[in-house]
Amino acid sequence: MDPIRNPYAPGAGQRPPELAGRDEQLHAFDVTLERVARGRPERSVVLTGLRGVGKTVLLNALRSAAVRAHWGTGKLEARPDQPLRRPLAAAVHMAVRELGHPRPDEVAQVLGVVKAFAQRDGGGGACVAASRRAAARWRSRCAASCGRR
Ligand SMILES: Nc1ncnc2c1ncn2[C@@H]1O[C@H](COP(=O)(O)OP(=O)(O)OP(=O)(O)O)[C@@H](O)[C@H]1O
Ligand SMILES: [Mg+2]
Repeated sequence: MDPIRNPYAPGAGQRPPELAGRDEQLHAFDVTLERVARGRPERSVVLTGLRGVGKTVLLNALRSAAVRAHWGTGKLEARPDQPLRRPLAAAVHMAVRELGHPRPDEVAQVLGVVKAFAQRDGGGGACVAASRRAAARWRSRCAASCGRR
């Protein structure tokens, strides 16, 4: 293999010259974007896989697809020892800015809501508790439909 033309792009998250074998995922994500744009219900997309299988590269490609379709995007790293509220607000803030909406007053209003969300530390516990209750309800429904306790 000619080392200059070698298509392997070594390095975490390095986009390779040929994004091999991801057409199905890219197409499925385009469908997701279009359904969400039309207000249709959709589920989250979760990328999982072994170390180095290409999750970051694919995630970045999906992000580019979202940007091309005029969606704002944000990126955050969840850590088990840190609350999600502030990084989530920062990511949403970035997404709103990225959209470059022509009405500054509307942008300011949305960013005000995001800021209030970020600063609402006291409500975090209630929010987590509510999420836990919802997760418990979902688990018990799932167990019931699977015939398990
Ligand atoms: N579809 C693909 N075709 C060719 N090469 C790829 C593809 N996806 C990823 N690679 C290459 O594989 C390597 C690892 O990719 P990436 O960093 O995205 O993996 P990862 O799953 O995020 O790894 P980690 O689990 O360490 O976070 C990179 O060198 C990247 O260029
Ligand atoms: Mg990665």
